[in-house]
Amino acid sequence: MSRVLVTGGSGFVGSHCIVQLLAQGHEVHASVRHPGRELGVRAMLGEGGYAGPADRVRFFAASLEDDAGWAQAAGGCDYVLHVASPFPQLVPAHEDELVRPARDGALRVLRAARDAGVKRVVVTSSFAAVGYGHAERTAPFAEADWTTLGDREVLPYHASKTLAERAAWEFVADEGRGLELAVVNPVAIFGPLLGAELSTSVVLVKRLMDGSVPGCPRLCLGVVDVRDVADLHLRAMTHPAANGQRFVAVAGDFLMVQDVARVLRSGMGEAGRRVPTRQLPDWLLRLSAVANPEVRLILPELGKRKNATSAKARHLLGWTPRSREEAVLATAESLVRLRLLRASAPARRLSGPASGCGRRPAVAGG
Ligand SMILES: NC(=O)c1ccc[n+]([C@@H]2O[C@H](COP(=O)([O-])OP(=O)(O)OC[C@H]3O[C@@H](n4cnc5c(N)ncnc54)[C@H](OP(=O)(O)O)[C@@H]3O)[C@@H](O)[C@H]2O)c1
Repeated sequence: MSRVLVTGGSGFVGSHCIVQLLAQGHEVHASVRHPGRELGVRAMLGEGGYAGPADRVRFFAASLEDDAGWAQAAGGCDYVLHVASPFPQLVPAHEDELVRPARDGALRVLRAARDAGVKRVVVTSSFAAVGYGHAERTAPFAEADWTTLGDREVLPYHASKTLAERAAWEFVADEGRGLELAVVNPVAIFGPLLGAELSTSVVLVKRLMDGSVPGCPRLCLGVVDVRDVADLHLRAMTHPAANGQRFVAVAGDFLMVQDVARVLRSGMGEAGRRVPTRQLPDWLLRLSAVANPEVRLILPELGKRKNATSAKARHLLGWTPRSREEAVLATAESLVRLRLLRASAPARRLSGPASGCGRRPAVAGG
């Protein structure tokens, strides 16, 4: 069995990765920004089904914006899953507020991994580094595609993921000294929450369920379950063929927001009765965008059809994700189970739970 560092252990994806690593018998080092998060993350692991000895997970405080702590966190590890990256619900005033922690943080983690003699790092990138800034097309996006920076539809989050992933590939090529790298590029991630903080992707389901949006914009999005994203990380970590490869993680064809709403309305019984399934006309969104910066941000994506394929992960790694419907319903069920529908969700912030500095609402989209 191996020892694995998971960065961003307090997050939606990171916590599920830890649960699966423990279930496979590995030992885990988990990085968190604030040492006070340990108890909360242990509770999340319990919610995910872990009931084993506490000492199989050790916590290390480290920030992507600081060198301190990474050498200790990576010490003695065979593998690293580098999951942490800012994914706030608010778009910062300056792109650098996201790019700096994402790109420089990835380099900090890779450097610590190399110096600790780690065999392979799996980086959680995103469809944000694959499918933006392109002309409309019918061909599904795949691993050979890269987001084109500088295009109007490319938001700071997309830029941060693109630049961080490019920096990671350059690092292993130029300075890796044999360190192996694999990358996972998920679309919008749904599935069961293990704690009360909502990842930005999950906010869409909450808003549809609690009736806080009047209808569905003509937006399409890829869907994948967090349990399958974690599973793909573990496969990419050890499979000999995964070294040097990117893997798009998507459960099937992209869905319109209206399709997501219909899945919730029909699958959630009484809890889904407030979900609006009517489509909002584009003109209404353009009109409300004048006063609402959140709506302004989605205008470039309105009516755009996109698709992506995960054929590579399925064929090379034997990855078989759950259906899109199961992923969406699992999010909704966990929102109900954890009594989070009424609560105003704690927003993910750039500087962690202690403080925040975002300026404008972001759009979900992985
Ligand atoms: N959810 C999606 O739809 C989606 C889709 C594609 C890719 N991804 C990628 O998946 C990864 C995890 O996302 P998630 O959905 O799990 O989001 P999340 O729940 O917001 O988790 C993000 C994690 O990163 C940590 N983090 C953020 N900024 C940090 C910093 N400056 N220093 C140290 N840690 C920092 C957070 O720590 P705190 O708890 O301290 O804030 C948290 O543990 C990210 O790389 C994201 O880009 C997500």
